[in-house]
Amino acid sequence: MNLKGRNFLTLKDFTPEEITYLLDLAADVKEKKKNGVPVDNYRGKNVALIFEKDSTRTRCAFEVAAHDMGMGSTYLGPTGSQMGKKESIEDTARVLGRMYNGIEYRGFGQEIVEELAKYAGVPVWNGLTNEYHPTQMLADMLTIRENFGTLKGLKLVYMGDARFNMGNSLMVACSKLGLDFVACTTEEYFPNAELVAQCQEYAKESGATITLTSDVKEGTKDADVIYTDVWVSMGEPDEVWEKRIKELSPYKVTKEVMANAKEGAIFLHCLPAFHDLKTTIGKEMGERFGIEDMEVTDEVFESVQSKVFDEAENRMHTIKAVMMATLGIE
Ligand code: CP
Ligand code: NVA
Repeated sequence: MNLKGRNFLTLKDFTPEEITYLLDLAADVKEKKKNGVPVDNYRGKNVALIFEKDSTRTRCAFEVAAHDMGMGSTYLGPTGSQMGKKESIEDTARVLGRMYNGIEYRGFGQEIVEELAKYAGVPVWNGLTNEYHPTQMLADMLTIRENFGTLKGLKLVYMGDARFNMGNSLMVACSKLGLDFVACTTEEYFPNAELVAQCQEYAKESGATITLTSDVKEGTKDADVIYTDVWVSMGEPDEVWEKRIKELSPYKVTKEVMANAKEGAIFLHCLPAFHDLKTTIGKEMGERFGIEDMEVTDEVFESVQSKVFDEAENRMHTIKAVMMATLGIE
């Protein structure tokens, strides 16, 4: 399998075999890391990490992975570079492409990362846009595979706002890899019809199904994986909190939801999570709306079924695999 020179932007342009190859590579480098086997054959290479939005996992995963591979990395935050202010994306891409072997971008519209990829001349990796979060998908699929030994035929239920990056990307990943995908939320929060139609085509090939339902009992019944994400994503205006809390509360992951899923079901969340409201935003929302949690209860988050920290760790191993494969296996 040769993925050298490829961008990693949505996962839509990767075949199931290519995605499986990346998962296998990630499992291999994870094992190597555990055993202290170095993978630092990429010495002399450098990567640029552009973050127009905040990040803990994605930034740290790219930095640690690059370091383990022997590469240098440069973090470019929301301020401090010329990009988008004095200098166009097109020009920035051409400049960075002359100095770096690969570029990660986290930010707003998908069109920005696509534009970078068009002009950079080196692999560009999407570290989250409003529409897609493809590196997260590899970590999620690896975590699921580690728990069940397989992906095909499992049922994954996504609860919450399924129109944004996580809902979209999970639907793409599941339909490509043969997992039955359920978006369990109110109709307003269903993924957009065009993407659903495209994923139906992938599902035909893989044997997956795609279900959109507002019925929690029916939707979560016999699920293998229950997945949720924050109800308000980065970059969204403050005004949406009240509406989201009101409309999405019936789709919170509770112990009743987990009990309705299959025995041995696991809980996943890309994180950060509002399972308790101890953070600054959490405290503010807790006081404003008189709530103690949001998309998942603390009880589920802290339960043995919750694999969220394995999932977070797997961000690093899978991102390492993406960089290795697209920079060329050395
Ligand atoms: N899951 C995820 O992308 O986390 P960060 O926002 O911390 O990178
Ligand atoms: N939907 C969330 C995902 C965070 C990893 C956001 O975009 O903020």
